[in-house]
Amino acid sequence: MEIVQANLMDLNSLRRLERDCFKQDAWSIFDLIAVLSFPEVIRLKAMVHERMVGFIAGDPRPREGWGWISTIAVDPEFQRRGIGSALLRACEIRLCVPKARLTVRLSNSPAIAMYEKDGYHTVDVWKTYYSDGGDAQVMEKDLAPG
Ligand SMILES: CC(C)(COP(=O)(O)OP(=O)(O)OC[C@H]1O[C@@H](n2cnc3c(N)ncnc32)[C@H](O)[C@@H]1OP(=O)(O)O)[C@@H](O)C(=O)NCCC(=O)NCCS
Repeated sequence: MEIVQANLMDLNSLRRLERDCFKQDAWSIFDLIAVLSFPEVIRLKAMVHERMVGFIAGDPRPREGWGWISTIAVDPEFQRRGIGSALLRACEIRLCVPKARLTVRLSNSPAIAMYEKDGYHTVDVWKTYYSDGGDAQVMEKDLAPG
């Protein structure tokens, strides 16, 4: 497995990954084009035998002192092999900010378990954050200098 930068050429692979990983929270094609093309966004893909099996995007906000992990997904066939954690660490390093933040559905226990294992803790709950009225947990991690 290798982690490399993603770009707009990955749109179809990312659409497939979104469809397979997310149900009601899947991003629209416009969101996917934006995440693959906005200049400041960090976008990384995990590749196994030239197949995209994972993706992460990060949004650095240096003036605010943190960056957001905007999305992360690992192909169900490749989950529980450390790929999500590896993507998270690779994105955190490239954010180059003191803290990383993210939102996660309160009911998404696999993702919350991964974030907690990686050092994130809950700092807030945003009620009815998701379009179906679901609540989001806001999690934060102090990143080592550099
Ligand atoms: C969340 C997600 C990215 C995790 O990716 P992954 O590659 O399976 O994660 P890892 O293999 O690195 O797991 C790291 C740790 O997280 C925890 N974890 C991950 N999946 C878990 C699960 N289904 N149940 C319980 N704990 C889990 C475990 O502690 C795991 O360590 P272990 O395997 O040594 O026990 C993946 O499940 C996914 O794509 N889910 C659908 C999309 C999603 O919900 N994204 C997050 C939106 S906020």
